[in-house]
Amino acid sequence: MHKIGFYRDGNGDLNIQGIKITSLAEKYGTPLFIYDAGLMKERYNTFFDTIKEVQGNIHYAVKANDALSVISYFAKLGCGADIVSIGEFEKCIAAGMSPQKIIFSGVGKDNHEIEFALKNNILQFNIESEEELNDISTIASRLKLTANVCLRVNPDIAPKTHKKISTGEKETKFGIDFQNVKSIYKKLHQLDFINPVGLGVHIGSQIFDFNFFYRAYLNLKNLADELRLSGYTVPTLDLGGGIGINYDNSSEPDFNNYKKIILNLFKESGYHLSFEPGRSLIAEAGILITKVIRNKKTKEKNFIIVDAAMNNLIRPTLYDAYHKIETVKKISNTEIIADIVGPICETGDFFALDRKISKVNSNDLLAIRTTGAYSSVMRSNYNARKDAIEVMIYNENDFQIRKDEAIKDIISKEEIIVFD
Ligand SMILES: Cc1ncc(COP(=O)(O)O)c(C=O)c1O
Repeated sequence: MHKIGFYRDGNGDLNIQGIKITSLAEKYGTPLFIYDAGLMKERYNTFFDTIKEVQGNIHYAVKANDALSVISYFAKLGCGADIVSIGEFEKCIAAGMSPQKIIFSGVGKDNHEIEFALKNNILQFNIESEEELNDISTIASRLKLTANVCLRVNPDIAPKTHKKISTGEKETKFGIDFQNVKSIYKKLHQLDFINPVGLGVHIGSQIFDFNFFYRAYLNLKNLADELRLSGYTVPTLDLGGGIGINYDNSSEPDFNNYKKIILNLFKESGYHLSFEPGRSLIAEAGILITKVIRNKKTKEKNFIIVDAAMNNLIRPTLYDAYHKIETVKKISNTEIIADIVGPICETGDFFALDRKISKVNSNDLLAIRTTGAYSSVMRSNYNARKDAIEVMIYNENDFQIRKDEAIKDIISKEEIIVFD
């Protein structure tokens, strides 16, 4: 049995499940995403243990990483899914997940998406406005199909995370204002072909101060208790995702603390719970391998120019996100301060600024850590750059899960119309 996650062997070289990262880079080329199924399973099992004393289901937030093999693996482990587009729904179905385990979240479900999901027997819609409810009700009545509806509540809580991934404040587009929830929940009971299934919250991502979860969940439970006392059925509370993970790989997500909150609030509460973890199940299981193209030195700075770019990993420039970056081969003692940048013609195309890092040469490999979530999934073909290959490591073997995209594949998506 090999260690779980990425580790250094006796020579100081980076490995995964007994396979040298250098050999994977040689086999598949770079840039290359590598995922450790062992770590994904470990995180899933820990999450499962965290909630096993309450009645609950895990719906993996597919937006974190929608690779078909990733979805399929989490489905095999027992997860349902949380999706935000009909494209993600179709990916889940293609990956073998039952539609009866899929929750449709998101503020902008289009009518054709609602219709497709209903016709294909989706478990539930988490809705974010009264307007959306009216659209679902019209479509469900026309199709004579019942829609299970949960109201996503906006608890007006700012969970001290990056503003672009904070979703619980009033000013954001997410959820239904607290004061309107009761009246809309009552309306659910009056509409034909609408089945009320409960209330939900998701206050944001990368949350470390769990008091914010506590407050949001407590408010949600109090609201649900009040509705129950008034005679309404509230079977389920959806608690969203958001557990923070450490991008410096210093410690594991704090599932213990999360468990305390869940047990404190919900043990024997009579609510069925749904959880939508994304990042905490997969972020640490991913790594992006990139080759050094060359060093460039100016009067002001050292630049390490690598063959991955912001089209492969946009988090540093989009969220000011930190990713640990290290050499794949034994770390040398000579260190420099450098910007680690890609070839794209944008100043924002960087992975790290003013970072202390081992001195490297052309063709050396660097590992950008913790890129399992919100990384490859945000890929683009900007600068006509192709997607990175993705590989999953399972039982000490490597499996290619994303094909090598050829530039001709990018070109073939277009029509050439010659205008004169
Ligand atoms: C509705 C909803 N649920 C779950 C998640 C997953 O959050 P995380 O990856 O932080 O666990 C998100 C992420 O933004 C979300 O919008």
